[in-house]
Formats: sequence, C-alpha cells, structure tokens
Amino acid sequence: MSKRDEIFWDKSARKYAASPVADLAGLERTLARTGEMLVPSHDVLELGCGTGTIALRLAAAAGSYLATDISSQMISIAEEKLAGTDCDHLKNRLEFRKATACQLAMEPARYDAVLGFSYLHLAGDPSTVLKNIRTLLKPKGLFISKTPCVGDMNPVIRLAIPLMRIAGMAPGSVTSFSSASLVREIRTAGFEILENERHGSERKDTRPFIVARAP
Ligand SMILES: C[S@@+](CC[C@H](N)C(=O)[O-])C[C@H]1O[C@@H](n2cnc3c(N)ncnc32)[C@H](O)[C@@H]1O
Repeated sequence: MSKRDEIFWDKSARKYAASPVADLAGLERTLARTGEMLVPSHDVLELGCGTGTIALRLAAAAGSYLATDISSQMISIAEEKLAGTDCDHLKNRLEFRKATACQLAMEPARYDAVLGFSYLHLAGDPSTVLKNIRTLLKPKGLFISKTPCVGDMNPVIRLAIPLMRIAGMAPGSVTSFSSASLVREIRTAGFEILENERHGSERKDTRPFIVARAP
C-alpha cells in the first residue's frame, strides 16, 4: 500500500476523529448485527479501524480484538480513547496496532473473524486484499464488511473522486466497484456469502453489509 495513502490518512486523522457519524442509526444496526456474530471465544481482527470507534464498541463481545490501521495517527487517537476508558475488560482484550492486511498475512496469527468497515474500497486491489483476508482467517472464519460501493453511486460522485484526489481531498486508492461486483469478488476469493443486507437509513444505501464465510 502506498506511502501516499498513509500520509493522507495521517493528515486526516484529527479531523476524522472530530467529524460526526453520517448515519448513526445505520451504524447502530451494523454494530448490533456484527456483535451478534461474535462469541467470547473469538479472536477478532479489524482492518482499517480508524480512530477505534467500532473496536471500542465491539471488543467486549470477543475473546481478543486486534484493531489495525495503515495510519499511525489514527492508531494514536484510538489508543488515547482506550486509555481514557475505565473498562478493564476492554483494556484486557483490545489492542490497536499500525498494520495492513498484507503485513498481517505474513504473521502466523489466524482469526475467527476479520472486520472491515469503510475499508475495502480504500485498501487497494480488492482481489489481493480478499486473498490476504482469506489467509488471515481460520477455516470457516467470518469476513464482515460494510463499505461504500462507488460504482453504485451517482456518476457525478464517481467523476469528482479524481478531482478530489488532485486537490488532496481524497486518498490515492479509491476502488470503484458496484455491490454486485463486490459480491462476485468475495465469492471468487473462495468465500460463501451468508448475508447481504442494507443497514442505512437513506432510501438509496450504497454500503452493503456483507457477512462471508471462509472455506
Ligand atoms: C473511512 S475510514 C474508516 C474508519 C473506521 N473503519 C470507521 O468505520 O470509522 C478508513 C480507514 O481505513 C484506513 N486505511 C486506508 N487504507 C488502508 C489500508 N490499505 N490498510 C489499512 N487501513 C487502511 C485509513 O487510515 C482510515 O483510518
């Protein structure tokens, strides 16, 4: 993954941490459904965890929870948030670390569930990332994703992304896929799709919530 993306996200981290969640009700539905899929014996890995908002909510449902991000600034903010809680049960099982899927796949640890929220469209070539995610999962492990499908969005948005990139307002890697092609990619990587839902409050929700199971 490019150094440019890392720099972009490092620079964005404080602003990202301060920005409100766009669809709180949709996020709550996603957290609730994801929490239901986790059990206390699970070793969970989150990719692209940002400032740890989701990790801090979900870690209590797992046995161990490693939340990772390409940006050291995002990880620092997440660690500050964790240090600021008085929940020992979170501190005992939740760890934040700067890492990418590619780096983690070279380590021996394997996980019962890999989570990626607003991540897959930013992480580079999806087929390579999905291959790494499959490597990171134990047999029958779960991959849970909710990510914008830029290919399903208004064409004006698709056209605006390269301009935003030039203006330094978007990261270098934004992959434009539709929800249909994302599902195809996940199946091609060897996963079985268990759920494909929409949790958003808006009529047109371009961020499918997908639960996929490794072979
Ligand atoms: C839109 S934010 C989402 C953060 C968090 N998942 C959430 O839903 O609040 C995208 C995050 O992905 C991270 N990211 C981008 N490319 C990445 C990569 N290749 N590997 C790991 N993290 C990446 C960014 O640093 C950023 O924190």
